[in-house]
Amino acid sequence: MLEIRFHTFTKGSFLVSIKTIAIADLKIGMFLLEFNDSKQKIAVKKPGRVPNDKVIGKLAGDGIVEVTVDFSRSTFTTKIEPASWKRDKSKLVAFDNEIMRAHRLLKESKATVNKMLENVFADQVVDIEPLNKAADDIVESLSNNSDALHSLSALRTKDAYLAEHSLNVGVLLASFARYLGWTRDEQAQLIVGGIVHDIGKTRVDLEILNKPSRLEPHEFEHMKLHQVHSKSLLNEIEDLTQMSREVSTMHHEKLDGTGYPLGLKGEQLSEVGRMSSIVDIYDALTASRCYKKAMSPAAALKIMMGLSGHHLDEDLLKAFILCIGFYPVGSLVELSNNLLGLVWESNEDDMKKPIIKTFYNTQYKKYYEVKMIDLANSNLSIKRGVGPFEYGIDIDAYRYQPVG
Ligand SMILES: [Fe+2]
Repeated sequence: MLEIRFHTFTKGSFLVSIKTIAIADLKIGMFLLEFNDSKQKIAVKKPGRVPNDKVIGKLAGDGIVEVTVDFSRSTFTTKIEPASWKRDKSKLVAFDNEIMRAHRLLKESKATVNKMLENVFADQVVDIEPLNKAADDIVESLSNNSDALHSLSALRTKDAYLAEHSLNVGVLLASFARYLGWTRDEQAQLIVGGIVHDIGKTRVDLEILNKPSRLEPHEFEHMKLHQVHSKSLLNEIEDLTQMSREVSTMHHEKLDGTGYPLGLKGEQLSEVGRMSSIVDIYDALTASRCYKKAMSPAAALKIMMGLSGHHLDEDLLKAFILCIGFYPVGSLVELSNNLLGLVWESNEDDMKKPIIKTFYNTQYKKYYEVKMIDLANSNLSIKRGVGPFEYGIDIDAYRYQPVG
């Protein structure tokens, strides 16, 4: 996979992202500004997008070794080349072992995020070291067995939305990047980006932030200011990478330019920015807030598909759906025999056939004996994804319970 991310930086009032790359990395759709042969730089007479492979071949044949590309004007769609979906099961850490570690890790990471938010509330400088440490540990756990962290992060506490949402955005972004074959270092940068992405909310009027009903238009305008606050707060964090920063600065931008704070449009939105808006919306829809109940992942993804093309990047959204699945680990599903259960472990060979922990019968409205059903070895199938509040039962009691 092409190892280029959109290195966007601000120059004057314009967003530019210009980079010199080897001719071997040139792709159809990239916006060419300059050719470099071994001796000199040659400005392209008419800067424009590479239309086909022929042009690339001709440039290479003419002895061009490097080209300068403006990525903000390039239209090549992101390289959806899932690299790591099929995990080598024999190399995975057993779910039961990883989940114990992941439980500790998630507890520590939440404490780290809470501490960071407290520091920002108190106008203190954010130390990036603990965030980097949490990010590295999360990347490690995802690589050991990603089902463990995903099943745990499905459990949400009522009063910790900002911290949990921030951490979840980081975890989901890392999973997404992992699926796309990005490096561990990039996954870690995205986790840090997720952790700080809504940092500006610490400067928003608390009454509006915690309002138990939908925001009035003027309140929403005030809420949008969190992006302005985020920008200045991020500038104060030493050693925050550009990739981490972009998660925050671009997660409310939309492809058609109707997002905020800058109203960036199409090609101005980096790949990281596009991924971040997908993950941010997904996590917000699947979480409960004081004014709305959590949706099932399947219902949330359906809504998001309606936003693809004009708000969200269609190709990346498709990849995200393939990455987490319509029935992600930790979500609730109803089986063909009316048993209700939690998706316990994923199955990459057939995403529709994960392992389910069942405990309730929807027909008789009765709790049943807990059973693990491996759909890969069963005639049963998933009838539908179910919202966590649909049957008014206590699901969390059936999630992983730490021993000791
Ligand atoms: Fe936000």
